[in-house]
Amino acid sequence: MVFRFAAVLMMALFGTGTVLADTAVPDGYKNADLLKGGQMYDNWQAFTHKKPQGTNPLYPAKGTFPQQSWSCNECHGWDYKGKDGLYSTGPHATGIIGIRAAAQKTPQEVFQALTQKNHDFSPYLKEQQLWNLVKFVREGQTDFAKVKRTDGSFTGLKSVGRAKYRMLCVRCHGNTGTLIDLDPDRDGHQGLGTSIENPARVMHKILWGLPGTEMPSLLINLQLKRMDGIDILTYVETLPPEITKNTKKERKKK
Ligand code: HEC
Ligand code: HEC
Repeated sequence: MVFRFAAVLMMALFGTGTVLADTAVPDGYKNADLLKGGQMYDNWQAFTHKKPQGTNPLYPAKGTFPQQSWSCNECHGWDYKGKDGLYSTGPHATGIIGIRAAAQKTPQEVFQALTQKNHDFSPYLKEQQLWNLVKFVREGQTDFAKVKRTDGSFTGLKSVGRAKYRMLCVRCHGNTGTLIDLDPDRDGHQGLGTSIENPARVMHKILWGLPGTEMPSLLINLQLKRMDGIDILTYVETLPPEITKNTKKERKKK
């Protein structure tokens, strides 16, 4: 009450609403870690020891990936558009709404969405971790329409992306993106070119880094811009999909 009174008084003095807006921001939101929020959207279970059991009750019974049904991205999509985006059709389609509109909601409203019945993550995540997700929902989303055009082409510059790729990614992924096998369970050696099957997913991972690995976040750890990530994605798109020689199968034969 004292705070509110102070805010009203300040507004009266300065004729601005900004002071009131600031006091309305909860401490949890002020202290929230955007990097962690971005990585939690990818895989929040990498940040907690308490894992949910069974299939998420909100996940459709006929869904293809019940084992992923607790991941934010599985329901809301890597383009954050849910049923109105890349997951409108195909095996990942769930009919669930996106979170683009939630970016305009207040921190309290988004927090409320993450703790309401059936969509309550508080048994698994600490309060501050929930605020990290709230911060990501409000401040971290990428408008995928600015990444990929409706004609399928990417908006970045391939040549610029190549230079940035050489600077930032080659040491781990190698010149052709195949140094790390991204899917050891799959036949052949899967390079970065394969991951482009889901470009919004790749975009998210480039921008936010990979939880539990050394892969840095372009936006936070490297302090670069979204456009840098889009250039890199545009280049990565042109890398070879996989290397078939020296596969596990072949190695087993020897
Ligand atoms: C099993 C699917 C599923 C998962 C996993 C899931 N959600 Fe949701 N989410 C929903 C559904 C369904 C709604 C709509 C609920 C409603 O309208 O009552 C929703 C609503 C929301 C909203 C409110 C959107 C709005 O505009 O009102 C936000 C924000 C949100 N989810 C964020 C997240 C985050 C962050 C995660 C990961 C911690 C997550 N969700 C995980 C299904 C899911
Ligand atoms: C410090 C090493 C390191 C750097 C630098 C790095 N990565 Fe990675 N990246 C990894 C590792 C390790 C994995 C595999 C993680 C796993 O699958 O366990 C990975 C995985 C990926 C994936 C696949 C993610 C998935 O799950 O589909 C993409 C895409 C990717 N990196 C792109 C990039 C790009 C682009 C850059 C440069 C901006 C980059 N990485 C920089 C280490 C790195």
